[in-house]
Amino acid sequence: KQCRLVGVPVQDGAGRLGCEMGPSAYRTAGIAKALSELGHSVTDLGNVAPRPQRPMAHGNAALKFLPEVAGWTAALTQVAYEASAGQDAMPIFMGGDHSLAAGTLTGLAQRAAEMRRPLFVLWLDAHPDFHTLETTESGNLHGVPMAYATGLAGFDGYFPPPPARLDPHNVCMMGIRSVDPAERRALETSGITIHDMRKIDEHGIVALLRPFLERVVEADGLLHVSLDVDFLDPGIAPGVGTTVPGGATFREAHLIMEMLHDTGLVSSVDLVELNPFLDERGRTATLMVELLASLMGRRVLDYPTRSF
Ligand code: ARG
Ligand code: MN
Ligand code: MN
Ligand code: MN
Repeated sequence: KQCRLVGVPVQDGAGRLGCEMGPSAYRTAGIAKALSELGHSVTDLGNVAPRPQRPMAHGNAALKFLPEVAGWTAALTQVAYEASAGQDAMPIFMGGDHSLAAGTLTGLAQRAAEMRRPLFVLWLDAHPDFHTLETTESGNLHGVPMAYATGLAGFDGYFPPPPARLDPHNVCMMGIRSVDPAERRALETSGITIHDMRKIDEHGIVALLRPFLERVVEADGLLHVSLDVDFLDPGIAPGVGTTVPGGATFREAHLIMEMLHDTGLVSSVDLVELNPFLDERGRTATLMVELLASLMGRRVLDYPTRSF
C-alpha cells in the first residue's frame, strides 16, 4: 500500500484542548516505522491547515467554533480527495478531533463516485456523532460529522456544500454506547447499521462484522475506517476527552483490525480524538499505532483461509 500520513491538528470540535497534539503523538509513537516494517511505502504529507472562513451566526447559540470547523472541513474535503488518488492509495488521517471526518468522508465519497465504486464506512466509536447544527446541545462539532456526510438537513450555508454524499446504507457503526435523544430519533430512520456494545456482548465481533464485510467484498467497495479512541474501553485507552465506560477490549479491537485486513479492501483510515494531554506515558497513542499495524497486516501466524 501507498500509505499517506496526513496530520490534522484540529481541536475546535472537541469540548476541551489537546487534540491538536494528536498528530505529533502518532509520529512520536512510531506510526511511520510500524507501517514501513510491514512492507508498505510511507509518505508523511505533514499537517493540514484550515481554510479561513468568514464569521457566521447560527440560531443555535451553543455551537462552538462554527467558522473554524467549517474551514477545516473545506480544507479536508480537498485533501482527502487528493490523498486518495491512485492505485493502492491509503491515506491515514491522524487527528485531531472527530469533526475532521466531515471533510474526510465527503472527500472520499467524491473519490469513490469518480472511481464508480461504492464507499463503505466502518465507524468505531462510543458515539454516532449524528447531530445536526440544530440538535447538538453541547455545541461541540465533533458530534456532527456523520450527519453532515450523509446529507442531513441544516448544514447549508454553514458547512461547505459537500461534493458527494455518503450513502447511510453503507455505514456500519460498532461500539456505540452513548447516544443523545435527538441522535436516537434521527438514527432510527437513517438506514445506518448500528451494533451497540450490548450486541457485541451478546453476539461477539465476528458474527456482527462478517455480514458487513461480505457486503463490501460483494460490491467491490472502498472501505473507510473511522476509529475514535473512545471506542476502546477507558481502562486501556485513557487518552481521550470523552471516555465512556464499557468499551471494546484489547482483543475485540485487534480482532476487528485483523478481519479488516483480511478483506484487502480498506482504503483509508481516520485515527481521531486522541488527546495526548490526557494520556498516560503515551500508552493510548501506542495502542492506536498497534491497532493500525494490525489493520495493515501485522499478525502472529499466517492463516490459510480468510477469517471473515
Ligand atoms: N453526543 C455528544 C455531543 O454531541 C458527544 C459527542 C462525542 N463525539 C466525539 N467525537 N467524541 O456532545
Ligand atoms: Mn466520534
Ligand atoms: Mn466518540
Ligand atoms: Mn442506499
